Amino acid sequence: MNVLFVASEMAPFAKTGGLADVVAALPAYLHRAGHDVRVVLPLYDKVDTSKATFTAILEFPVDLGAHRYGCKIFRTDVGGGFPIYFVHCPALYARGSLYTSEGDEHRRFLCLQFAALMIATKLGFSPDVVHCHDWQASLIPMILKTLAKSDPVFARSRSLLTIHNLMYQGSFPVGIGPDTNLGSVAHLFHQDLMRAGRVNFLLQGILYADGVSTVSPTYAKEIQGEKYGGGLDGYLRARSTTVVGILNGVDYGEWSPDHDKHLAHHYNPFDLSGKERDKEHLLTSLGLPYHPNVPVLGVVSRLVGQKGFKLFDPVMFELLRKHGFQLVVLGSGEPGLEAMFATLQRQFPRQVCFYNGFKNDLAHMIEAGADMFVMPSVYEPCGLNQLYSLRYGTVPIVHKTGGLADTVTQWNPRSGDGTGFAFEHHDEAGLRWAIEAALATYKQPKHWHRLMQNGMAQDFSWDAQGKLYELVYGRLVAAGRH
Ligand code: ADP
Ligand code: GLC
Repeated sequence: MNVLFVASEMAPFAKTGGLADVVAALPAYLHRAGHDVRVVLPLYDKVDTSKATFTAILEFPVDLGAHRYGCKIFRTDVGGGFPIYFVHCPALYARGSLYTSEGDEHRRFLCLQFAALMIATKLGFSPDVVHCHDWQASLIPMILKTLAKSDPVFARSRSLLTIHNLMYQGSFPVGIGPDTNLGSVAHLFHQDLMRAGRVNFLLQGILYADGVSTVSPTYAKEIQGEKYGGGLDGYLRARSTTVVGILNGVDYGEWSPDHDKHLAHHYNPFDLSGKERDKEHLLTSLGLPYHPNVPVLGVVSRLVGQKGFKLFDPVMFELLRKHGFQLVVLGSGEPGLEAMFATLQRQFPRQVCFYNGFKNDLAHMIEAGADMFVMPSVYEPCGLNQLYSLRYGTVPIVHKTGGLADTVTQWNPRSGDGTGFAFEHHDEAGLRWAIEAALATYKQPKHWHRLMQNGMAQDFSWDAQGKLYELVYGRLVAAGRH
């Protein structure tokens, strides 16, 4: 099959979260499986162009209503694999960050979408499936059914919209309408919403994509209910037969403690001695004292409301005092949460280190060096860090929601089954219970060893998850023939 990916992130070039990991690893799987897969991304000024050879292949303007943007397309092939097309348009992408709250944010990603289709047309690349990720690519299904309908390149193209996070919807004031170039088919925009003065890109994708998927089976159910539906649950329910949940996979080439290039010491389930040395290395490099039997809790996260860290105040303060464990936190985001972690570090200088920033090698070092990994997310479409943690023998402590509920099973000391600690209710009592249960189990080395082994034996590779996408693509293509 010919598959065109359109997305706003891809590791290692441009990353703020898990979307980047998925948009790197899923195409790599599809390429290995024999498909012709190509990815289109913005060439942000943050992209490290020294990571590959970039060749200019096309140049064209993209018109968005009255605005004209000159775009140059660069191609690169990572590791001799599939092509990645970068849209170079400094007027839109030289902003110092991937996302902005500036007045032209909608145009930054409309340009990406029109450029992606233009690339396919100019190269004569006829996609069987255009795989659109999140709101930044979610007008493509509607464009394919309208403006691009008569372009023979897209004659058999079907669209799949993958929702990585329903809470980011790309909702803009209705005044941006002309910039979408879709004025002639404005009746296809959600009319009530337009009357209320808004245009919602993700909703348009949910309405017009041939298929809709999200990144775990539980989240696929949750978003069809009011609590997690972000106001779009009714539309998802209406299309429930087309909404599928496919769990993200892990690129074990990048995330495996037996060959992780960011680790000082490697280890595997049969010889865990390297993990203890990674723990010592992590703590000393962060300026914390190392004590072999003091457990270390890890956090690597965007610091936003979704991730549930509000519960840390007061629970984490109280438990650090009571139990004397250590906590290593890597993340950045909302000022209130950054301040809370800074306070934790100030109050517990020998127990807590907060690294405020984005640092990939430290993320790997924490996965390896911590004993436990905490993800108290309010909601979590899939979550990748708990999957990495399992492979690194770092026991996840999670709120039982979305992909966390699908991938972490509660430890049962009687049967010896389970891979972590999952609390049901997102409240202080829940988090306190889960952390204290983990700390108590840590004191029983035989149980702890079994728990680590259970986690390390889990397999969430893309070889399994990628096949599920192939099935969905196949179904979309077959339905398109009728
Ligand atoms: P989300 O996409 O919602 O942020 P995921 O768990 O799916 O959550 O993915 C997060 C990804 O981003 C992981 O690969 C994680 O290691 C990485 N990450 C998050 N914050 C940081 C950070 N501050 N530094 C380095 N990597 C980070
Ligand atoms: C989103 C979600 C996260 C998911 C990632 C990749 O950022 O918040 O749960 O793992 O996308 O699909």
